[in-house]
Amino acid sequence: MPEKVQAPVDALMKLTLDALKESGLLLATQGRDGRPNAMAIGWAAIGSIWRRPMFIVMVRPSRHTFKLLAENSDFTVNVMPEQMRSAVDLCGTVSGRDHDKFAEGKLTAVPAREVKAPIIAESLISYECRTIMTNEVNPATLDVDVRNSAYAAGDFHQLHFGDIRLVHADPRLLET
Ligand SMILES: Cc1cc2nc3c(=O)[nH]c(=O)nc-3n(C[C@H](O)[C@H](O)[C@H](O)COP(=O)(O)O)c2cc1C
Repeated sequence: MPEKVQAPVDALMKLTLDALKESGLLLATQGRDGRPNAMAIGWAAIGSIWRRPMFIVMVRPSRHTFKLLAENSDFTVNVMPEQMRSAVDLCGTVSGRDHDKFAEGKLTAVPAREVKAPIIAESLISYECRTIMTNEVNPATLDVDVRNSAYAAGDFHQLHFGDIRLVHADPRLLET
């Protein structure tokens, strides 16, 4: 794969949202122990808030990633190539509490440039994000159907509003 280049923040949103819905993206974090971890995410939003480009990710308290984000709230969101679907599946089914998902999924962690979190070298696109606000899904104000279908066991997501500081992409995606 060619070396990634810096991309305009809104250049690859559609591709990113398509991958989010089809296979999931990888949310990469690193807590105090310095070990990189990645989990699959399927629910997220990209937009513009407070005049800043924003990636909002939703993490349930039961995830190891939740603990890592409490230790260091910087994160990256990585769009993986289709041929690495098995690595995305792995990151969405086992926990970093008892697995080294980078080693098992043959993923390479490289330090992000603007935030303290790993980037996945094999990704097509990486968004470097700094959390500037968190809040929790509020069951009292949530639509009852959504509550029943998504939160039968509680475990209400925490939302991380990540200010997108830098986007890297495979240059072939930017060709017109
Ligand atoms: C396609 C897919 C999408 C997922 N989306 C989310 C999500 O948006 N938020 C979440 O908390 N868990 C989500 N999960 C579940 C976590 O990825 C899974 O529980 C993972 O093992 C957590 O890893 P960790 O314990 O290392 O943080 C998803 C799983 C899959 C397979």
